[in-house]
Amino acid sequence: VFASVVRAPEDPILGVTVAYNKDTSPNKLNLGVGAYRTEEGKPLVLNVVRKAEQHLVNDQSQIKEYLPIVGLADFNKLSAKLIFGADSPAIQQNRVTTVQCLSGTGSLRVGAEFLARHYHQLTIYIPTPTWGNHPKIFNLAGLSVKTYRYYDPATRGLNFQGLLEDLGAAPSGAIVLLHACAHNPTGVDPTLEQWEQIRQLMRSKGLLPFFDSAYQGFASGNLDADAQPVRTFVADGGECLAAQSYAKNMGLYGERVGALSIVCKTQDVASRVESQLKLVIRPMYSNPPIHGASIVATILKDGNMYNEWTVELKAMADRIISMRQQLYDALSAKGTPGDWSHIIKQIGMFTFTGLNSEQVVFMTKEYHIYMTSDGRISMAGLSSKTVPHLTDAIHAAVTR
Ligand code: LMR
Repeated sequence: VFASVVRAPEDPILGVTVAYNKDTSPNKLNLGVGAYRTEEGKPLVLNVVRKAEQHLVNDQSQIKEYLPIVGLADFNKLSAKLIFGADSPAIQQNRVTTVQCLSGTGSLRVGAEFLARHYHQLTIYIPTPTWGNHPKIFNLAGLSVKTYRYYDPATRGLNFQGLLEDLGAAPSGAIVLLHACAHNPTGVDPTLEQWEQIRQLMRSKGLLPFFDSAYQGFASGNLDADAQPVRTFVADGGECLAAQSYAKNMGLYGERVGALSIVCKTQDVASRVESQLKLVIRPMYSNPPIHGASIVATILKDGNMYNEWTVELKAMADRIISMRQQLYDALSAKGTPGDWSHIIKQIGMFTFTGLNSEQVVFMTKEYHIYMTSDGRISMAGLSSKTVPHLTDAIHAAVTR
């Protein structure tokens, strides 16, 4: 009965790892998926995560019962505080509802399903380019996906004028997906002044912000600074949605731990919204897994562990920033044609190199370097040892 099923293509991002795993070259390098690696090229489990896990193992009160549909209460409260700030008036006024979801993707999907059922405007604007999963998540939830200009290939920076024009022309009430910080794939963020202009425009048109916050702490190494754009939107008293992921900033990728928050106008609305979120979640996966959320809650509620986390997070962010400098210096030293200053200007996990898909194919074939076909490289996958190999490959790709 399934004989007519057609083979689907691999995922444009996770499929890069599939191809990488099949490569037998000792020089192979995976700069595809946004996952942190050490200088030795190894995945990293944070010390503070190990410590929290130990704490959980030793705690006899830890049981494996089902969590409530909305997840672990402590985790939800602490996640809202982390993104909106401990002194957020919206939290103090109890007009935020937060539900634990399956990392960033799950949080976006639950938010999208809720909007498709309960929001009057079913169009969502996403930036071009954006994370490849965004359009699929929103389409499958029943929203109609439109785009707004974001990246300017000529400057390898923000097309701010285009962004303002496109959001200015969006129908009133439309949903707008905003990357909270460290835009994926471009590494290009608006300045705080530009965010303020975006906020004013969006509020004047009643556009609904839906933040995707997958890199809090990774852009600057500072959790509060990276949440600033979200906080300015909450400070004005208006509504917004925020999807949080702990995949990158706590290195909890496979634990699938994240949160969706919806900031409402009143406490009563927030509690009704939460009741409807439960109806979205229950038939999808019933209730979320307990382990990852318990790790996060353990770390966030303990002052010492929280501080340890911020130190480890900053070390990851700093290593990425140093990789940017090293790659830029190596290309400059080699005299590779072109202006590569965007490598040090862009922020977060990725550099949007400007290499085209043929150059990417060439680098994979000849140098066993794996990256997404749009020319995005994960700086977190690079190390001092592999910078020369990548430099040779980029040089060969642009001079052939
Ligand atoms: C990425 O963009 O590489 C990450 O967000 C991982 C993913 O799920 O695509």
